Amino acid sequence: MSSTSTTSTNDLRRSFLDYFGGSGHRIVPSAPLVPQNDPTLMFVNAGMVPFKNVFTGLETRPYTTATSAQKCVRAGGKHNDLDNVGYTARHHTFFEMLGNFSFGDYFKEQAITHAWTLLTKEWGLPADKLTATVFHTDDQAFDLWKKIAGLPDHRIIRIPTKDNFWAMGSDGPCGPCSEIFYDHGEHIPGGPPGSPDEDGDRFVEIWNLVFMQFVQEADAIVGDLPRPSIDTGMGLERVAAVMQGVHDNYDTDTFKALIAASGALTHTAITGDNQASHRVIADHLRCSGFLVADGVLPANEGRGYVLRRIMRRAMRHAHLLGAKEPLMHRLVPALVAEMGAAYPELVRAQPLIEATLQQEETRFRQTLEKGLRLLDDATGGMKPGDTLAGETAFKLYDTFGFPYDLTEDALRAQGYRVDRAGFDAAMAEQKRAARAAWKGSGAKASDELWFDLADQFGATEFTGYASESGEGVVLALVKDGARVERAAAGDQVDVIVNQTPFYGESGGQVGDAGTLATDAGAAARVTDTSKQLGKLWVHHATLDAGELAVGDAVRLTVDHARRGAIRANHSATHLLHEALRQRLGTHVAQKGSLVAPERLRFDVSHPSPMSPAELAEAEAAVNAQIRGNGAVETRLMTPDDAIAMGAMALFGEKYGDEVRVVSMGREADGATYSIELCGGTHVGALGDIGLFKIVGESAVSSGVRRVEALTGEAARAYLSARDETLRAVATSLRTTPDEVPARVSALLDDRRRLERELAEAKKALALGGGAGGAPAGPEQVGDVAFVGQVLDGFDAKGLRGAVDEAKQRIGSGVAAVIAVNDGRASVAVGVTEDLVARFNAVELLRRAVAALGGQGGGGRPDMAQGGGPEGSRAAEALAAVRAALEGATAAA
Ligand code: ALA
Repeated sequence: MSSTSTTSTNDLRRSFLDYFGGSGHRIVPSAPLVPQNDPTLMFVNAGMVPFKNVFTGLETRPYTTATSAQKCVRAGGKHNDLDNVGYTARHHTFFEMLGNFSFGDYFKEQAITHAWTLLTKEWGLPADKLTATVFHTDDQAFDLWKKIAGLPDHRIIRIPTKDNFWAMGSDGPCGPCSEIFYDHGEHIPGGPPGSPDEDGDRFVEIWNLVFMQFVQEADAIVGDLPRPSIDTGMGLERVAAVMQGVHDNYDTDTFKALIAASGALTHTAITGDNQASHRVIADHLRCSGFLVADGVLPANEGRGYVLRRIMRRAMRHAHLLGAKEPLMHRLVPALVAEMGAAYPELVRAQPLIEATLQQEETRFRQTLEKGLRLLDDATGGMKPGDTLAGETAFKLYDTFGFPYDLTEDALRAQGYRVDRAGFDAAMAEQKRAARAAWKGSGAKASDELWFDLADQFGATEFTGYASESGEGVVLALVKDGARVERAAAGDQVDVIVNQTPFYGESGGQVGDAGTLATDAGAAARVTDTSKQLGKLWVHHATLDAGELAVGDAVRLTVDHARRGAIRANHSATHLLHEALRQRLGTHVAQKGSLVAPERLRFDVSHPSPMSPAELAEAEAAVNAQIRGNGAVETRLMTPDDAIAMGAMALFGEKYGDEVRVVSMGREADGATYSIELCGGTHVGALGDIGLFKIVGESAVSSGVRRVEALTGEAARAYLSARDETLRAVATSLRTTPDEVPARVSALLDDRRRLERELAEAKKALALGGGAGGAPAGPEQVGDVAFVGQVLDGFDAKGLRGAVDEAKQRIGSGVAAVIAVNDGRASVAVGVTEDLVARFNAVELLRRAVAALGGQGGGGRPDMAQGGGPEGSRAAEALAAVRAALEGATAAA
């Protein structure tokens, strides 16, 4: 072994890929840890997962053989190794699986030949240290091992159990397999596979060759693969241990380096009581680092919660080692040094990994000590073998953020157990109380259904920040308010899946639309997506074709153009918010918003209408940010941290213990332009908004103004339509668009002049005696000269002028002029100065007004004005004035 004992893990990975690459296999880079093609899996957990559809024939690739070193995580769902990690020699949350694959190309013989050649010839492992197993009925594999490797019969062991029949999960490709074991030597207890003491550590499985032949559904074989295929898996950490002559994966070079860094930074010994803690830290550092690099961030649900559990478990061990400050992020450079060359994504994500770990640890430390104290108190009187009350574990979870398995881990060393049933009961009780409180709040009874679904399935995992398409498993279907098992073409049905890229309406942003489809031919249109109880995503869909059933895997595709427009409008509201604050003052606070694909609406507190200049300046500021094309950044943090960094939060809004903080744009001095707490979806760079145009400003209620605006194509179309209108106006004015204002103002001047001239002409015409047929010249009533005139269509505004003119003309006398317009009459009566002692214009007017069916009217003794509805009685009105004059002169 001495010749191979210096083989590093990185060398081994390279050498494996080179070997298979050299024999015609395509070297395929590791797929991300979040499965791209399998909604039933939480994380990629085997090398063949990315090739699943190639095995079944659903997908074809330009190669028929491949090799990879695949990142794997087994920490959530079925394969949960978390509890053991740190305390055993070979358990990991994250590991690398080396594999070679044949998609209908070679089969058993070549697979065994390759494995044997690589192990014994390339890597020089002694043949007598190796043992193979085969599925008990697989005579062919048995014979091949004999022929190719020359293994004696007793080292080809027939195994009748599931151990030698490999399946990816309950659904997918599967087949009998043959495992290769390495014998670590007599000094280690344990027997060969299949023996009563096979669980000992002496014989360690290092490679699994799967002879893929069948497809299974719900754990039952339902058919053959199109062609027999090969899938193999070798744990890199295990084979590194073998090649480096150690028995424990944690004694290999990679782990030794990480553990040394952990020892150095905590100033602690790496052996003895501390050993498990350093191992936990090293393993969980790898897992956390790779998960963050693949887009998973700590959260309280789904994948993010698995990551949080792993991070917090490591952080508690850092605390156990006496670390007084956050430790994990300081170990990232060691991780990148060990693995960054093979996984460049780790190098790219290094700042994010460090920031995420530091934030999580800072936050967790705030409650860690209090929680541990509570745990100490609770276990004070306990003896090894005793059980901690489930309620206490729940309190630790609920108040101090201790995931259940962290509590279990913390008590493990003392030999205490935790009452899981009690923990679950306490959790159920809390949910029941939440439901009761909700019922009391007067919500709709039909929403009870959403509570049932949320209880049963937990929160939907939203994958739509990073992606606009993905797969999900149908968890429930709701039709006409009731759960159904299946839906048929034509049905309108609400679809709930385990994970979705569709945004559920919230925070003013409308829900996504798009499509949902199955391989079996179901096709549905999703017209809207809502979010119930803050955590259950409901796709409102119409099934156009096929049948959809609970349990189906569906492809979910968000309408890209619509989402793009929504993103642009949402980011624009943030920019507008800041632009208005800067222009109008910091009293400007968001009072509501609507972010739809076709427009945005933003309500703010502001006491008075915004002037066109204010709006134009805000619009210009937003467009300047758009042209700046700065990146939009999103970070997760506590609400307090977010507000401390200056994020604008909505007053009175209830935020969870974790918020998304969206930052965008730059001030001239380099400061960030806008920072807001926001769960919505945004553009990647501000330039994606394209263009921003305010199209309206109005009042919503007292003190609240509403700004409406458009972005991107909608803004362009709006401006283009405006331009078209202006062109049409210019054409009909026979001028150019630029000349329109001058032309319109000239036309208005003309019009005013013409109106004036027309009025003059009408008056002249009337006073000249033509209009209304009434005589213009004075008549003699007693000893008084009287002018009485009825002018049809004469502007009432001209009446006083007409009366004055008549007075002037007659020198001494009384004038009454009536203008009739649209059947109504206006009348003015004037008395020359010399006669005001004898006649009162107001009294004379009253008579005329009465005759016209009107009331009131008034003025001075020499000039009075009024009117009445009965213009047809104008002649009677003049007669009434005349009669009054006659009466008065006769009496005199
Ligand atoms: N897919 C096989 C395994 O995971 C090789 O063991």
